[in-house]
This record gives sequence, C-alpha cells and structure tokens, in this order.
Amino acid sequence: MDTDRLLRELTDFLRIPSVSTSPAHNADCRAAAEWVAGELRRLGCREVQFLASGTHPVVWGVGPEVPGAPTLLIYGHYDVQPPDPLDEWTTPPFEPTVRDGKLFARGAADDKGQVFCLLKATETAGGRGGPPVNFRFLIEGEEEHGSRVLFELLRREPERTRANAVLIADMAYVAPGWPAVYTTLRGLCYAEITVRTAKSDLHSGEFGGAAPNAHEELLRLLGRLKSPDGKIQVPGLYAAVKRPSKTELATWKRLPFKESEFLRHRVQAKALTGLKPYSVLERLWALPTFEIHGITGGFTGDGAKTVIPAEATAKVSLRLVPDQKLKTVERQLAAAVKRAAPKYVQTRVTFLHGADPATVKVTHPAFRLLDQAFQDVVGRGTVAARAGGSIPVVPALGRGGAPVILTGIGLPDDRLHAPNEKLDLKQLWDGIQVFRRFYELLGSKDV
Ligand code: BES
Ligand code: MN
Ligand code: MN
Repeated sequence: MDTDRLLRELTDFLRIPSVSTSPAHNADCRAAAEWVAGELRRLGCREVQFLASGTHPVVWGVGPEVPGAPTLLIYGHYDVQPPDPLDEWTTPPFEPTVRDGKLFARGAADDKGQVFCLLKATETAGGRGGPPVNFRFLIEGEEEHGSRVLFELLRREPERTRANAVLIADMAYVAPGWPAVYTTLRGLCYAEITVRTAKSDLHSGEFGGAAPNAHEELLRLLGRLKSPDGKIQVPGLYAAVKRPSKTELATWKRLPFKESEFLRHRVQAKALTGLKPYSVLERLWALPTFEIHGITGGFTGDGAKTVIPAEATAKVSLRLVPDQKLKTVERQLAAAVKRAAPKYVQTRVTFLHGADPATVKVTHPAFRLLDQAFQDVVGRGTVAARAGGSIPVVPALGRGGAPVILTGIGLPDDRLHAPNEKLDLKQLWDGIQVFRRFYELLGSKDV
C-alpha cells in the first residue's frame, strides 16, 4: 500500500470543513460531496450522481457490473460536527496533523476516515480480476443533521438501494484489538424548549421580587424532567423500553469493558451518574437518556446587566432505545413540558431532528464473512455489542430486507464530536485491508 499517497488524499478530504449543521458551511459540504464524487469516478463507477439537494447532495455511485455477484450497498457520511471549542484543539480541526501515529482532524474517525477506508478497499479488492461484487455507494452529507434529504430520497425511490447487504463503518472497536458488529443503535429526539414569562425583559430593581424570571422557570422546569437518581420524568417514556435478555446481558460481562476504567480514562470525571441499579453498559446502550446541551437567553455578554429575562431556551435531546418510537416520544416530551410549567409560564417545544432506534439481526451469512475478514487481518473476529449513538437512516435502510452490517475501525478514545478527534493510522491501514478482504469473501460466496 502506498501509505504516503493515501494519507495525502485523506488529508485533502479532511481539510474541507463540511459542517452540515451550519448554513455558513453549505459550500464546504458541496465541496466534500465533489471530493467523494471525484473519488468514485476514479474508482471506476460507471454512474456518479448528486441527488436530492444542491448544498448537501447525497452522492450516489454505481460500480462496474459483475454478473452473478452479490450487490453491496456502502453507506457513509461526508459531513462533520462543528469543531468548537476551537481553543481546545492542539492543532486546528481542519488542518489534519499526524502526531504519535494518530491523525488529528474533525471527521478523522466520524466518518470521513472510515468512508475513505471503505472506498480505498474497493480500489484493490478482486486484484486483477476486477471488482468482486456489485458496488453501490450512498454517501450522504446530512447525517449529523438528521438525514432529512436522504429520508425523502429513500421514501421516493426505495428500489434504488436494493442490495444483498448494506455495509456501514461509522463506529469503533469495543476496545483496542476487539472489532465489533453492532446489534442496536439508539434513536434521538432533539428539541428546543423555550419559556416566556413576560412581554419583554424587565429592570431587576424595579421588578425583582415580584416578576417571574424566564431562566429561573426554565431551570425549574428542566429539573422536573429528570430526578437526581437519573430517572427521566416524562410520563410513559419507559413503557416501550425492552430490557436486554439475560443471555445478552451475560455476553456484555465478557466484553473488555471496566466501569472504573471507563470513568478514569474515557469520561475523566469524578463519578458516573445515572440509574445505579443498572450496569454502565446497560445505561449506555439499552436505556433512554435526557441531556441538556445548552441554554440561551437573558444576559451573557461581558460585564454586568441588571435584567430579568423574559425568555430562555434550552437545547435538549433524548436518546431512544428499542422499542421506543420517535413520534411517540415527541408527544410525550411536549406533554411533560406543559405539565411541568406553572400556569403563568408560556412554553414552546420545537423539534429539530430525530431518529428511531435501530435493531439488526446478525444471523445473515454476510456477518460471518466480516468476522472472517477481521480474523484474517487483525487476528480477532467480531464481538456483538450495542451502540449508544444514532445513525438516523439505518431503520429505513433495513426495511428493504437486506442485512445492515454496522461496524467500524475507530477506537473508543477517538473523541467523536469533541476537540482533538483522531484516528490511529494503524486502524486506518488495517481497516482498508479488512474491507478489501470482506469484499473478496463476499464475492466468492453465495449470499
Ligand atoms: N457515527 C455517529 C454515530 C455513532 C457514534 C454510533 C458512536 C455509535 C457510536 C454518527 O455520526 C452520529 O454522531 N450521529 C448523531 C446523529 C444525530 C445528529 C441525528 C448522533 O448520534 O448524535
Ligand atoms: Mn458518524
Ligand atoms: Mn457523528
């Protein structure tokens, strides 16, 4: 492998600040889509198209026809999360830098580096005989923003993504040396909760003591939505939550995961929180969450201003687990907010985006081939685990009946969405070989 060339090419991709959640980066998202399209053309796709959006197009590619071979749909995303807080990056997020065998950049692991692996593995898979399978590529630019464009596309053209198997590399090993396939993803319900307490802001001397304060009301309201022991106080929320089977819980005990190490090295806090009767893995993988992401309103500028704010807004989200439904949880949250506010406070809940949770069965023969590929290249096969994160489009991709293979070549300490996101170069080079091996195995078997 010409690792110098590959690293240069991945660096070009990572340099594009394709932040999908901010309109200021629309042109950059388009540029990242162009990069993917150029790559697909170079890899021999006979058809490369931009679909469904001018600014965040879904990049669609069709590889050379291989009669009699299975069709593999490869999904990934070229968009990234915002890089802030910028001053916590050792080197700037969009100036990819190698230190200590690791490539630091926003998107290095999530998901550009992994998309890069999947694509580059097709370059050599099949050797001189040409590609081993019928490749289809679906690389979108709105995953970090709820995948609305892609949902629309799949609804309009469900036939387009028909395949024998779907492969997604947007996750990590469960521990160094321990590759994984994932059986569930959590869903997401992202909302803004706004409270209004008066017509406009008021002087805190003239009115303080008798007028309602929007921040105070918002804080109390948020406090009522989750109790200190970690129980979410949204009526009905836990009704659909299914506990993992005893067998599944037992397999988690054998995973290379220690709660104390998770606290010390990954969370790096003084204590873990949440529902104590449940193991940490169960809290991360099989229970819903409620998080407050940020609060705005009132006065936050330099200096001091004596004001009673009339409006305050919190950005919040819930993670959902099988068998919760996004639509139901939206209704439950809206009702809970109304119930938690006193009569004199006006509330508004706006839903920004979301995803249903996903469950995949890992019994299809294609999973054994991936297991074999990891075994051949890194010396250990895959373990089945669950994931705490979300990929909105997975339930829709699974509806076609093909197995959706959720895997990844990242490591648990890659710092997705955080400062100093990285990808270990060893994982990158191994990843290319693993997927190449997987494509070859898939092409040589009847699945
Ligand atoms: N790659 C992640 C999803 C992920 C992370 C799965 C870790 C498993 C483990 C994906 O890019 C992501 O971050 N998704 C968002 C989706 C949301 C914005 C709709 C997420 O989970 O917050
Ligand atoms: Mn991702
Ligand atoms: Mn992400």
